Amino acid sequence: MSTHEPIRPPVTIKTLRKMASSGEPFAALTCYDATTAKWLQRAGIHVLLVGDTAAEVVLGYSRTIDMPLDVLVALTAGVKRGAPETVVMADMPFLSYHGSEDEAIRNAGRFLTQGLADIVKLEADESFAPLVQKIARAGIPVCAHVGTRPQQVALTGGYTAAGKTPKQAAQIVADAVALERAGAVMLLIEAVPDQVTEDVLKATTVPVIGIGAGPAPHGQVLVLQDLLGLTDRQPPFAHPIAQLGTSIQTAAQKYVQMVAERQIGSRTPQMGTTSPKLSTEPRPATN
Ligand code: KIV
Repeated sequence: MSTHEPIRPPVTIKTLRKMASSGEPFAALTCYDATTAKWLQRAGIHVLLVGDTAAEVVLGYSRTIDMPLDVLVALTAGVKRGAPETVVMADMPFLSYHGSEDEAIRNAGRFLTQGLADIVKLEADESFAPLVQKIARAGIPVCAHVGTRPQQVALTGGYTAAGKTPKQAAQIVADAVALERAGAVMLLIEAVPDQVTEDVLKATTVPVIGIGAGPAPHGQVLVLQDLLGLTDRQPPFAHPIAQLGTSIQTAAQKYVQMVAERQIGSRTPQMGTTSPKLSTEPRPATN
């Protein structure tokens, strides 16, 4: 089979629901651009999360709360254009849903209309249930992100794991239940002890995606850069399965050398380069 042929049928939120109820795990990764989205879809990834981690891995900030809304809307649309047959989940950035409900609903809607997203994600506890209800009422599918909530970093003083005490653990389960009742069609649970995830799974019925929350969730998500060895600060739960950082470095070093030796610029492939189908057409669309 060519690497360009899709290895699975199109995935929708309904597909994820079916997979969750039949016990078939689904794979999610963060993604922030159309080219990467295209390859991840070809690989069979089921969900692409355009996370506010783009603030860190794309824009170079040290916190996710610095993610500009307009940029994330544009990146989301690029990911969906690259992977039209994959569920694209857009993260609502810090302060895009904390002011008035009207503004929050409009911002969530922008992710669907301009951002082409299939679902929006927002970090929430049970106090957000009325807002989730209103966003869902507008026809916007919501994934509620519970457990560790990186947008709380200024309050918590750092990215610390949640749910370690019985009281915190019970609160996370209560948050998940309240948010599902309010209309969330999916949950994402981040960095909690495995037992908390299991309790959330028992208490709720919608698909649950985990990150650093044990092996039990219906789906797993990781930040792509962490998985591919592109990150300098590796989270303890994300083990890289490739070392693309060093591959990029080696390839770029080779390019520097080839430029210095005047080996670049000719139409004939040089020794050590691959020879793609050359085209006189304009650069094709990504999919
Ligand atoms: O923004 C993001 O990438 C996320 C994941 C860490 C779950 O929310």
